[in-house]
Amino acid sequence: MGSPSLRQTSSSSPDSASSSVSIKRSNSADEPPNPEKGEQEGRPVDFISKTTRFKERTREELIAKAREKEVDQQKAIKMASHVDDYEIKWEDVHIGERVGQGSFGRVYHADWQGSDVAVKVFLDQDIRSEALEEFKREVAMIRRLRHPNIVLFMGAVTQPPNLSLVTEFCPRGSLFRILQKTKLDERRRLRMALDVSKGMNYLHRCCPPIVHRDLKSPNLLVKENWTIKVCDFGLSRPKNNTFLTSKTGVGTPEWTAPEVLRNEPSDEKCDVYSFGVILWELATLQQPWAGMNSMQVIGAVGYLNQRLPIPDHIEPGIIALMQACWSSDPKARPSFGEIMHKLKTLPRYAFTKQS
Ligand SMILES: Nc1ncnc2c1ncn2[C@@H]1O[C@H](COP(=O)(O)OP(=O)(O)O)[C@@H](O)[C@H]1O
Ligand SMILES: [Mg+2]
Repeated sequence: MGSPSLRQTSSSSPDSASSSVSIKRSNSADEPPNPEKGEQEGRPVDFISKTTRFKERTREELIAKAREKEVDQQKAIKMASHVDDYEIKWEDVHIGERVGQGSFGRVYHADWQGSDVAVKVFLDQDIRSEALEEFKREVAMIRRLRHPNIVLFMGAVTQPPNLSLVTEFCPRGSLFRILQKTKLDERRRLRMALDVSKGMNYLHRCCPPIVHRDLKSPNLLVKENWTIKVCDFGLSRPKNNTFLTSKTGVGTPEWTAPEVLRNEPSDEKCDVYSFGVILWELATLQQPWAGMNSMQVIGAVGYLNQRLPIPDHIEPGIIALMQACWSSDPKARPSFGEIMHKLKTLPRYAFTKQS
């Protein structure tokens, strides 16, 4: 700690420095030590110069101490935000089978120090590229998050050519895939809807609120015990940064809110619209807007104000909730807090109406 000169000046104890300051203070209330003041008070010259020298030394010591403290603080801040915190060595990651492919990267099942992890390897490793920005954004967002329904960030490989994001592994894969291949009972599906609303409620209640912007069943991961974890924070932004550029814009319009499809400014309520589509998937076990291409969905939802058809056999409470989530006016959509409450207090804990 500190340079040799700092150590030298600190050889007189900090207590002696402060006591000399307090003696001076007894003369003049709360004034800081002032080397010039003794002269004005008409004291003998040698005494003045001695006192002045002493005071100057004391000042130097105090300044040196303050500097030392500042350096320590800066070091602590640096450490807290430093990549060493979460850096994972590529050599320690043992890549297994590929479990996903997206626009920015490939996702693999892997072993890291004996733990099951998912590794999202960014496709474009050019350090000046948009992909790097995407990587940094996702790391910055996900490393702060702590909630049982948000996928756990474990670390990142921050050195090209292996830029990757390491998260907990969710062995059942995405909800989108599960709904296609497994018949889940209603209670389990309702619990999944509640899990999503809890994770999203956490994001929206962060300070500042975090808008996911790409909430959809392929971005919901399923754990062994069927718990749902929200993932893929590439497009997430703090709420006060709501502008969507055409580059980051709409990827999968089936889950996207009409105002976002029209490229209008949007807020966290765009996630509530997406949740309505997920609720519809869980209730109907169908794929949203199946048989329509992206342009047709953008036209239907964004410009013709159409919504997914709701079959007659769905519980009225669930229908009302879906419709509220799909309101054209984002302000009329419920918050995730309200959605959680509605789901917990449904008159019948089921998706299907009693006949
Ligand atoms: N932690 C994980 N555990 C298991 N599968 C995962 C995990 N993360 C991602 N996947 C699979 O990879 C797919 C793409 O991952 P995602 O994070 O959404 O990346 P992208 O930005 O490419 O969409 C997911 O839909 C899922 O099937
Ligand atoms: Mg994704």
